[in-house]
Amino acid sequence: MSEPPLHHLYLHFQELPWSLRTLYTATLLVLATGYLFALLHLYGSHAGRDGEPGLSVRDVVIAYSGSKESTRLESALRGPMASMLPTSEANEIFGWIHGGLDKAVFEKDIDPIFEKRCLACHDGSNPHIPHLGGYDNVLETAQLDEGVDIFTLVRVSHIHLFGLTFIFFITSLIFSHAYVRPVWLKCLIVAFPFVQIVLDIFSWYLTKVFEPFAYVIVIAGGLMGACFAFMWVVSMYQMWLYKPSERFAARTAERRAIG
Ligand code: HEC
Repeated sequence: MSEPPLHHLYLHFQELPWSLRTLYTATLLVLATGYLFALLHLYGSHAGRDGEPGLSVRDVVIAYSGSKESTRLESALRGPMASMLPTSEANEIFGWIHGGLDKAVFEKDIDPIFEKRCLACHDGSNPHIPHLGGYDNVLETAQLDEGVDIFTLVRVSHIHLFGLTFIFFITSLIFSHAYVRPVWLKCLIVAFPFVQIVLDIFSWYLTKVFEPFAYVIVIAGGLMGACFAFMWVVSMYQMWLYKPSERFAARTAERRAIG
C-alpha cells in the first residue's frame, strides 16, 4: 500500500475492547442528548427578542448588545419571559413603559401583574435575575436595553469555556480512534471546535461594541455543531458498522501472535 504506516499508538475502534466501545457509545449518546437540550435552551432564551417569531441574528444582537430602542424588561417579555403571562397583561406593561413609567399607574395596574406572575422567581432571592418587587427595582429593568451585563457574560464565559472544552475533549478523544485520511484533515477537525469556542466567547463581548460580531457568534456556533455532528457520526459508524480495512486485521493478528 502506498499510504504511510499507521502510528504505533493509533488504535482503530475495532481494535478496542468491547467495554471501551460500550463506554464510548454511551458517552456519545448522552452528549448528543445534552447538545440537543442546549440547542433548545438557546432557542428558548433568544428566539423572539426582536418581536418576530423564530431565531435570527437580530435576536443575538439584542441579547448581547441590547436593542437600543427597547428596554430589558420589554425584550424579556417578548422573548424568554413571554410564556409567563397572558398577552393582554404584557401589552398593559408595554403601554405603561411607553407611557412614561408613571408611578401611580404602576401602583394601581402594573404592580399586581408582577406580584401575580413574576415575583415567585423575581423576589430578589436569586441575585442573577432582576428583582421585580416595587417601583424602583422594576424601573431599573425598564431602562434602555443594554444587553447582557458584563458580569453575567463573565460568569457564562467561564462555564462555557470549561464545559465546551470537556465536551470537545471527550468527543475528540473518541474520534481519534476513527480512520480518517488525510491525517491533517483529521487533526483540523479536532482542533477547529476549540478555535470556535474562543471565537464565540470573545464575540459575545465584541458584539456589545460592534454588532456585526453577532454573525461570528452564529457562524462559530454553527461550525462547532457541524464538527460535533461529524465526529459523532463518523465515530459511531466506524465503531459498529465499518468493515475494518486489511491493515487493521493484519495488525490485530500480529498482536495476537505476539501476545
Ligand atoms: C419560573 C420562574 C420565573 C418567572 C415566574 C418569571 N421569570 Fe423572569 N427570569 C427567570 C430566570 C431563570 C431568568 C434568567 C434566565 C433568562 O434570562 O432566561 C429570568 C430573566 C428575566 C429578565 C432578565 C432578562 C435578561 O435579558 O437579562 C427579566 C427582565 C424578566 N425575567 C422578567 C420577568 C417578568 C416581567 C416576569 C413576569 C411576567 C417573569 N420574569 C417571570 C425566571 C422567571
